[in-house]
Amino acid sequence: MKQSIGIFDSGLGGLTVLKVLAQKFPQESFCYLGDIARLPYGNKSPETIRKYGVQILNFLKDQNVKALIIACNSASTVFLGEHDFEGIPLLNVIEPGSREALRVSSDKKIAVLGTSATIRSHAYEKTLKELDSASVVIEQACPLFVPLVEEGIVSDPITELVAERYLAEIKKEKIKTVILGCTHYPVLRPDLSKTLGPEVTLVESGEVLSLQLKTLFESGKIKAEPTSSRQIRVCITDLTDHFERLAQKLMNPEPIGQLEKVVL
Ligand code: DGL
Repeated sequence: MKQSIGIFDSGLGGLTVLKVLAQKFPQESFCYLGDIARLPYGNKSPETIRKYGVQILNFLKDQNVKALIIACNSASTVFLGEHDFEGIPLLNVIEPGSREALRVSSDKKIAVLGTSATIRSHAYEKTLKELDSASVVIEQACPLFVPLVEEGIVSDPITELVAERYLAEIKKEKIKTVILGCTHYPVLRPDLSKTLGPEVTLVESGEVLSLQLKTLFESGKIKAEPTSSRQIRVCITDLTDHFERLAQKLMNPEPIGQLEKVVL
């Protein structure tokens, strides 16, 4: 029976990650779970986020997955350093994102943008310092970015004003490498680039996760599926027309089937 790759996020923002993975691994099937009913995770406590995360990992485990990916940065902070879930390889976005930021940075001065939960956890700062003790890290919570993306307010004067406010210190410190430590932020790339300038490198989770996944295949920990028709399932814990439209928009031009409403 065809096995898929399980991937989860607190909502639909993780589709920015799924889209990249679906394009990089065209023969693989994916099962995505967006916990829309309980979104956002970014303002919740580590205990609550972990409880939700374990429920979702169990749900995905039951869907015949061969690997599990936590696309949500806020959820990744509470599974840091855990590389399997009940025997299934588990990837989070924080370790690969930190490695990639250090790889592309020439001065090791790195800024991290994220939700309040992600920034409060200092997960990126800890990981970056563990990987390179000489790194200098500035962390910035950007809680208004997620609702702006959810409302489709992108490439807009309001978004630019908010970006100017959040990114002021990063600009002042002349940071050249910025980790987009939240599933939703790749959608804001045009606004962020405009505010920060073209010389600043923005590190996204989707790209770095695809390298991690490639390593899992190469090491033999998971096996590639034979080239036959693949399936991309998008399951969510609540469903309205708004989510249907947002999902299509975030995955465009990758086609997705009907969203499935599931109970965890
Ligand atoms: N998916 C979350 C993250 O990457 C953003 C949305 C939320 O706050 O739940 O941190």
